[in-house]
Amino acid sequence: MPETAILQLPDQSIELPLLTGTEDEKAVDISKLRAQTGYITLDTGFMNTGSCTSAVTFLDGEKGILRYRGYPIEQLAEHSSFVEVSYLLIYGELPTQEQLASFSKLLSQHSLIHEGLKQVFGGFSKSAHPMVILSAMVASLSAYYSEASGKASVENLDINGARLLAKIRTIAAFSYKKTIGQPFIYPTDSLAYVPNFLNMMFAVPAEPYEIHPDVARALELLLILHADHEQNCSTSTVRVVGSSMANVYASVASGILALWGPLHGGANQAVLEMLAQIQNDGGDVDKFIKLGKDPDSGFRLMGFGHRVYKNYDPRAKIIKSACDRVLSSLGVQDPLLDIARKLEEATLSDSYFVERKLYPNVDFYSGIIYRALGIPANMFTVMFALGRVPGWIAQWKEMHEDPRTKIARPRQLYTGSLIRDYVPMSQRG
Ligand code: SDX
Repeated sequence: MPETAILQLPDQSIELPLLTGTEDEKAVDISKLRAQTGYITLDTGFMNTGSCTSAVTFLDGEKGILRYRGYPIEQLAEHSSFVEVSYLLIYGELPTQEQLASFSKLLSQHSLIHEGLKQVFGGFSKSAHPMVILSAMVASLSAYYSEASGKASVENLDINGARLLAKIRTIAAFSYKKTIGQPFIYPTDSLAYVPNFLNMMFAVPAEPYEIHPDVARALELLLILHADHEQNCSTSTVRVVGSSMANVYASVASGILALWGPLHGGANQAVLEMLAQIQNDGGDVDKFIKLGKDPDSGFRLMGFGHRVYKNYDPRAKIIKSACDRVLSSLGVQDPLLDIARKLEEATLSDSYFVERKLYPNVDFYSGIIYRALGIPANMFTVMFALGRVPGWIAQWKEMHEDPRTKIARPRQLYTGSLIRDYVPMSQRG
């Protein structure tokens, strides 16, 4: 018999079942609350409300822990590859050599996009942000596959998931080439996932492009670190859209747009813009920290703070240490890295940040590495999306495999006008 909690209401009390997760997290099951009492709960921003049970990712914000299917992010970052982590997130286990080979082959087989889709790129203005192109193109993918309609896309998730993983990389590279006016470079089966992307991004028809192993490894690391993060804003969006039986392409396209927001994945681009602003202003980090603490200044320190991490984001720790390694191996000196370090150092001893437990998050240092790899700032959030696709697919799959899943439809507390009669125009004030 599950443990229960008693909720004492003014006119009644109700016993609510208590649930415990595998990491000993506790929850109160309120699924019968309204039916039995007429009450709902209100929790703006869902800061205390779980939307689902999930076995994909575990994170502990107080301890700075992040694990994909039980494997610590630090171990996956050191030993794994993005394709292997994608398989792990989607299918729940590390692949055997044979499973990994066939998964990689599947991604290679589906890396091209329909030539008709290439025309869609032409419709975007030169100044179109690559995130809006990415989302539109991903949504358009569903127009090309019969297995993409609602129920069918659940039954055919293996092929649809592989198509998404394979094609979003091609679409991302093409959207970059579109913004710089260079010809598209097609994927090639002779290259693994990440080198293939780098080739599509930076090769030109006129000369061979040599893939620097440190660049490929750095990008592999960043994609692994971004692959999933439990029920964040964009993943929740993918689940909500998918819960209406919209197909997986439409669901992921919605997640891309949610990720674009500067409070979410768009922060990595906003961090670089902030660091450049501080540099152009003379590099006085204390001046900007002061602005960042003033709610009326309209300035926010991007890359700091997190809804869940009230300790250092474990991903930020790994990326920060990779910064030195990557920049020195590429012989890159970036003054913005020095500014970032000064900013972090100053906040770690500032009571405003310490009291609110505001630490650098995944977006604080990632842009420094993307920049060193030659990726422009307006592509940073596209890189975040590229990394997050396996997580979105895994969470979407898990949702549809859960027999308890229902269409997402939150309640509200109405605070508007009471009933009133229509007023003809002649009698209005
Ligand atoms: C991602 O959820 C995920 O898992 C997301 C993500 C993932 O992998 O999917 O980890 C990726 O989105 C990382 C976060 C990237 N965003 C930013 O770096 C933008 C800057 N950070 C914030 O705007 C903010 O910290 C959020 C949005 C990340 C979290 O916001 P919350 O949880 O709603 O917290 P809040 O805004 O209520 O802040 C609590 C307090 C407030 O002060 P008080 O009103 O209590 O005085 O902390 C302050 C805030 O003003 N605060 C900041 C701050 N972030 C929070 N003050 C200055 N600078 C900041 N960056």
